[in-house]
Amino acid sequence: MYIITTKDGSHSLFSEKYDEIYHSGNGAIQEGRHVFINSGFDYGIKNFLPPIGGESKLKIFEVGFGTGLNALLSIIAAQKQGVSVYYETIEKYPVPLEVIKELNYTQLLENEKYRPPFHSMHLSTWNNEHAVTSNFTFKKIHESLLNFQPPLQAFNVIYFDAFAPENQPEMWTVDVMRKLYQLLKPDGILVSYCSKSSFRKTLVAAGFEVDKLQGPPGKREMVRAHKRTS
Ligand SMILES: C[S@@+](CC[C@H](N)C(=O)[O-])C[C@H]1O[C@@H](n2cnc3c(N)ncnc32)[C@H](O)[C@@H]1O
Repeated sequence: MYIITTKDGSHSLFSEKYDEIYHSGNGAIQEGRHVFINSGFDYGIKNFLPPIGGESKLKIFEVGFGTGLNALLSIIAAQKQGVSVYYETIEKYPVPLEVIKELNYTQLLENEKYRPPFHSMHLSTWNNEHAVTSNFTFKKIHESLLNFQPPLQAFNVIYFDAFAPENQPEMWTVDVMRKLYQLLKPDGILVSYCSKSSFRKTLVAAGFEVDKLQGPPGKREMVRAHKRTS
């Protein structure tokens, strides 16, 4: 894999194995904010963390840790909104640390303030929980999603950030979506940059109700899928 610069100036990686860029070429940070923070994290804060009582932590599961950009954006969002987050992510092919050190995310975001937690996540041991900031607990799992045995009803929000269905079809099957459905708490959501009709049908077959939302710049649509219980 090698580093490329996307149109908003933020880095991404190009995977030679999957012949695909890790983020949108129109802007990695821009896409992460739009798809995962605005449509996933913010929805979760609004709907799953009642101001008084209820759960104290938003629980997020990410498919594909990769560069750690979505986790970093979530750390920043948690800090800005004053909420606590438990963040678990799964990755089959970790990005080497030499590559991570070259990425420009912490330079572009908040003036390097989040460099320590960004590096803590990458340096942290696999399969253990780590408090990377006072309100952000992080755990990364070194495993394939395809072999992962999900805990039941554990998460409020899933960031589904796999490589595209054309390049990695095994990640976009009904079986995988059923597994993710089970991972969600009642009323939980899954967000993805992909809005292909075949993917939407797969989500429905797995039990989800699917909303199409406006996509990030350069992409017409994205999806937010709901595990409705009423
Ligand atoms: C589109 S990239 C997104 C990565 C990440 N969210 C980011 O912002 O850099 C997809 C990620 O899924 C990972 N991946 C591929 N196959 C996987 C599998 N079977 N299980 C878990 N992760 C996988 C890849 O290694 C890659 O890091």
